[in-house]
Amino acid sequence: MKKVAILTSGGDAPGMNATLRAFTRYAISNKLEVVGIERGYEGLINGNLIPLARRSVSDILQRGGTILKTARSVEFTTFTGRQKAYKVLKDNDIDGLCVIGGDGTFLGAQLLSQEFGFPVVGIPGTIDNDLAYTDFSIGFDTAVNTALDAINKIRDTMTSHDRTCIVQTMGRNCGDIALYAGIGGGAEAILVPEIEYDINRIADNVIANHRKGKSSDIIVVAEGAGKAEELAIVLKALTKVSMRTVVLGYIQRGGSPTLQDRLLGAQFGVTAVKVLLDGESKVVGIKNNRIITLDITTALRKTKKFEKKLYNIANTLAE
Ligand code: F6P
Repeated sequence: MKKVAILTSGGDAPGMNATLRAFTRYAISNKLEVVGIERGYEGLINGNLIPLARRSVSDILQRGGTILKTARSVEFTTFTGRQKAYKVLKDNDIDGLCVIGGDGTFLGAQLLSQEFGFPVVGIPGTIDNDLAYTDFSIGFDTAVNTALDAINKIRDTMTSHDRTCIVQTMGRNCGDIALYAGIGGGAEAILVPEIEYDINRIADNVIANHRKGKSSDIIVVAEGAGKAEELAIVLKALTKVSMRTVVLGYIQRGGSPTLQDRLLGAQFGVTAVKVLLDGESKVVGIKNNRIITLDITTALRKTKKFEKKLYNIANTLAE
């Protein structure tokens, strides 16, 4: 292994830059040449490569986004697209590839490694935290803290006016951002795609909370469980209580990474280089506070378990 490449793919996540820095510097310390690929698999197909030196990744540790930029490539989902990508890797004497992204990114990595026997290592980087084999992915902690900060601020103004607010978080089909930010912010209800909810029961709770004298009521809804605006219309009709809504949206994807995301980035980046030095194709992750590596196919086969205990605690504490 003499030369390795790295790309970021899919939705960006805070901490991708910290991970990129760790990977680049550790690879260089191990006498590897490093190239960055711009705009994910799309850039790989198009041969958008830039050499990375230790100084190329200076002053990025604390920055959100990804200096390599990112994209969701349709062409890479085809065999022809992957053949083009493989040719670019070979033509540029690249011996191993590191990809930072979510499940779509990993699926691409799995195919590239299976079809061409090319060593690929995957680092989980997505705010959604929807990869089953790892407890956490890069960007999740920052996104949750951003959502939590927003909930705290929303709470201030809702309390002053005795209001109810529905706060919509991102997360695609995963409720983790809503669950963690909801429990941290003391949400009165948390709606996630993993657990069916009864809108009449939510409405009864809103009415009961008013009767109890609760000065504010915050309902956190994961985007996979519903839209804040639509829920507000239904709940207003059922409760006659006026509702405010906030869709947190892309602010959850930006911002300076938290310490946890920087620590994960450092550890994942270093471990990914080690995987490539062994000539293997794997994903890295964290399980029960230990850094792990796992075969890509095994990792992708796992089904994400929702943290029901945490969800129950959130509900009990909200009463
Ligand atoms: O996967 C990260 C994520 O932010 C999801 O939470 C969200 O559903 C999606 O990406 C939005 O993707 P895009 O920015 O491509 O519309």
